[in-house]
Amino acid sequence: MLITSALIAPTLPLAFGSDGSSARYRLGEALDPGGRRQPFEDDLLTMLTISELNADLCDRIIEHWLGLLDEHAPGATRHALRVTRHAVALASELGVPQAAWPNLQRGGLLHDVGKLFVPGYILRKRGKLTDPEWTSIREHPGRGCELIRSVALLEPSIEIIRSHHERWDGRGYPDGLAGEDIPLPARIFAVADVWDALTHDRPYRAAWPQDRAIELVRSEAGHHFDPVVVEAFLDTTSYRLAG
Ligand SMILES: [Fe+2]
Repeated sequence: MLITSALIAPTLPLAFGSDGSSARYRLGEALDPGGRRQPFEDDLLTMLTISELNADLCDRIIEHWLGLLDEHAPGATRHALRVTRHAVALASELGVPQAAWPNLQRGGLLHDVGKLFVPGYILRKRGKLTDPEWTSIREHPGRGCELIRSVALLEPSIEIIRSHHERWDGRGYPDGLAGEDIPLPARIFAVADVWDALTHDRPYRAAWPQDRAIELVRSEAGHHFDPVVVEAFLDTTSYRLAG
């Protein structure tokens, strides 16, 4: 089950039937109004795998946090969905195994969850940020990690949340990591994140034309970005066409 599908129609997936058929039930529909089990529920629940339960729980937590973030910083969910889609496409281009994609998706969707702790007026500010305001912005990866650590199931997704503002040349934040010391998912995500930010309107500037954004990404290979990731980005025409 794709995480993004849970954001559109939150459902509890239940696999059942010897023929492999499946159906979806909204959470709670397996219980009657008094909370008692329906006769068929035991059979269904025995076939519900732990991994499905875990995945569904993660999706619901992500959905909840993204909802809060979108109220705090309007547009955050659309940005997270777009960037995550781009990052997974780029991971595929780079040959990252599909088994790693769920954590990439979860980390991508929650990459800016730490902005819940940044005052809203800073996130919406159209003018130049003051030094204290920049300090507050730069705390969001660390604050996001603190939040993620409250849910053990999401710990494997923490690399993107912690390191998506690191730079290949070591001038990023919060840890000043450089080169391959930056986890690969975060190096991938950084390109997708900047690309999406450049090609969409922000409170402080209008969207750039795609050609200009592509040139910026190209010029930052070896500076902001991992050159190998940039090469894969440039080879993937979908970025030029993505909305
Ligand atoms: Fe961020």
